[in-house]
Amino acid sequence: MTPNGQQKSERNFSSMKFRDYPLPLDDIPRLHVDDPDVSRYIAQTRPVVITGTKLAEPALKWDLDYLQENIGSGMFNVFEAKDRGHKFMYYDPKKAQSNKDFKPQMQSMNMSFPDFVHRLRASRPGDNRLYLQQALNDTVGPALVQDFVHFNWSWVTAQQRKYNWGPLTTNLLLASMAGNVTPAHYDEQENLFAQVQGYKRVIMFPPSQFGSLYPFPVNHPCDRQSQVDFENPDYEKFPKFRIAKGLQTVVGPGDVIYIPMYWWHYIESPIDGGETISVTFWYKTTPISKTISYPLSAQQKVCIMRNIEKMLGDALKDPEEIGSLLHTLVQGRYEDSHKLMDQT
Ligand code: SIN
Ligand code: FE
Repeated sequence: MTPNGQQKSERNFSSMKFRDYPLPLDDIPRLHVDDPDVSRYIAQTRPVVITGTKLAEPALKWDLDYLQENIGSGMFNVFEAKDRGHKFMYYDPKKAQSNKDFKPQMQSMNMSFPDFVHRLRASRPGDNRLYLQQALNDTVGPALVQDFVHFNWSWVTAQQRKYNWGPLTTNLLLASMAGNVTPAHYDEQENLFAQVQGYKRVIMFPPSQFGSLYPFPVNHPCDRQSQVDFENPDYEKFPKFRIAKGLQTVVGPGDVIYIPMYWWHYIESPIDGGETISVTFWYKTTPISKTISYPLSAQQKVCIMRNIEKMLGDALKDPEEIGSLLHTLVQGRYEDSHKLMDQT
C-alpha cells in the first residue's frame, strides 16, 4: 500500500536474469498516474515509476519488424561495444579528440535501420554487441509520424508546465540487445523515460551520493559517468562506493519512469530476454532561481562543483594541473570537513 492507502501495483521480476552488484537497493515507488503521490515525487525531484500514462502507447507495437518497415530511410547511430563487452559507457567525442590517452570502450557507427536489424539477427554469442541510440527526427515514415502524433502529448505537456520545465529537447529511440548495460551516469536534463518493448532494470542514486560514485573529471570524455565498475568495484581506489545505497525497479511496456536531472541511473536489459525498446522525453530544466535559499540542495551543489571544475579547466587546460591545484587548495586546510554531501 502507498502512504495514502492506495493499492501499490507490484511487479514480480524475479523471473528475469540480471547481473549481480554488491549494493543495497530499495524499491523505486510504482504508482498509477491518478495517484496524487505522483506529483509529490516529481515536485520533490525523486524518481517514480508511473503506470497508466499512455504516454507512448502507440509505440507499444514498435518491434523490430514494424520499425524496419515504417521508420524510413534515415541513418541511425549504433554503438558497438569493443572486445565483446556489454557496457556502453557514453563519451563526448569532442572531449575524446583532445585527450590522446583516452581509449573508448565502444565505437559509434551510422547505418540504416534494416542494416541494424540484419546485423542484430546475424549476431552470434561472442560477437560484439550493438545498441541503437538515435533521436527521432523528420526522416521517419508516415506510420511512425502518426504513432508519434498520438503520443499522450497533453499529459506530458501538462507535466512540463506544472513543474516549470524548459522545452522538450529530444526523443531518443533506444533499441538494445539482451544484456546490454548503460553504466551509472547522470544527465543534465529531466527525463520521462517510456519503456515500450521488453523490460529494463533501472538502478538509481540521488545526487547527494556524488562522493560515493566518483564521476570522471568534468573535462574528461566520460564526464557525468561513474568511474566505478559495479561488477567489480575497486574499493581501494573508490572506498566510499561501499556506502553507496541505491534504488531499483524494472520497467516494462507502458511504464514511464521519471529520471530527475542529476540523479544517477544505471540501466540494463535482462540477459535472458530479447531486444528492448525505449523512448526518452528529455526536457531542459528550469533556470536556477535567482532567489537562493539555504541549505543548498544536492543538485545545486553538483551544479556549483561542475562550474568550478569547468572554470579551472578553461584557465589551466592541463587536467594534471586542475587536480594538483584542487589538492593544494584543500590539503591541510579543509581536511577536517571531508564528510560527503549526504553525511552532513
Ligand atoms: C538506456 O536506457 O540504456 C540509457 C538511457 C539513459 O541513460 O537515459
Ligand atoms: Fe541517461
